[in-house]
Amino acid sequence: MKEIIWISVATLVAAGVAIAQAPTGQGKGQPRGPSKSPASRPRPQTLTPQTYPIEQIQAGELRFTAQCGFCHGRDAAGGETGPDLTRSELVAQDTRGDRIGPLLRDGRPDQGMPAFNLSDTDRDAIVAFIHDQKTKFEALGGGRRSVEVANLTTGDAQAGRRYFNGAGGCSSCHSPTGDLAGVATRYQGLTLLQRMLYPTGRPAPARPKVTVMLPSGQTVVAPLTSEDEFTIVILDSSGARQTYDKSAVKFKIDDPMSAHFDQLGKYTDNDMHNVFAYLDTLK
Ligand code: HEC
Ligand code: HEC
Repeated sequence: MKEIIWISVATLVAAGVAIAQAPTGQGKGQPRGPSKSPASRPRPQTLTPQTYPIEQIQAGELRFTAQCGFCHGRDAAGGETGPDLTRSELVAQDTRGDRIGPLLRDGRPDQGMPAFNLSDTDRDAIVAFIHDQKTKFEALGGGRRSVEVANLTTGDAQAGRRYFNGAGGCSSCHSPTGDLAGVATRYQGLTLLQRMLYPTGRPAPARPKVTVMLPSGQTVVAPLTSEDEFTIVILDSSGARQTYDKSAVKFKIDDPMSAHFDQLGKYTDNDMHNVFAYLDTLK
């Protein structure tokens, strides 16, 4: 019998605690384990102490909860698939977003950290919240709270199926007898949860597609290689990289994963448990 260890998302994410124990029965390609973020590691000191207005911190908390909390924990101290940001070297070295900003823009898609297209206001608020959390945790001292990993599958697969076909809109892109047939055999436990929230690792999801309208009127549709404030880089049909100045062309980026992004902010804990329970029946 296959054993699935399910961690109560309500407890975990609400408390923002990290997994202290690896689940059994992990599928192949589990990209990271809890051993990478040991609670015993000392919290690196913030190089440039910084403070932020309370309103900005509160705005950041809302954004963070919606877009980052599922992975990093609602209090940024580590969650189901993302590391403890209050112990991050990158955060410790950050001054007002100079390190965090570029990371959010580019992500580390191969490592499970998505890229985010945030407004400056949202980005600054998130940065304020992360620094404020770090300061709070430093003041608390001590180590990270450990989690009791409960062995439960609390979701209701029937309700999950309804959500999948209804409110969740999953069935507009997926089918339990098509692409998701056997998904629970390919991935188990946390790996399945991670694939469900935001598929990363192997096999890597398709790259975003970009449509570029050149000044000549010609239209190019190609996979996006990278993007920054000023340029977009695509892979043309011969496999060569082409760089376009954003101010010189019209373009539209079509990211097949954007539905999963949006979904991160929409799931309730119950929906997430239920959908997971449903997917877990697709063996
Ligand atoms: C789908 C899960 C997921 C989401 C959503 C997510 N992250 Fe991450 N994040 C990760 C993972 C996994 C890593 C570790 C990547 C690595 O190992 O290099 C990471 C790394 C980071 C780091 C760097 C930590 C370090 O020390 O290198 C920062 C900062 C960060 N995330 C902030 C955010 C913020 C802010 C958001 C929301 C806007 C967010 N993340 C959303 C999964 C996620
Ligand atoms: C707009 C389209 C779209 C919607 C809506 C959508 N997804 Fe996805 N989903 C994708 C894409 C694209 C991938 C990446 C598939 C790939 O490239 O292999 C994916 C991957 C997945 C995977 C991983 C499959 C695998 O074999 O690795 C799971 C699980 C999943 N989605 C579940 C869901 C659930 C549950 C919902 C509804 C809450 C949902 N998706 C809604 C487009 C969508």
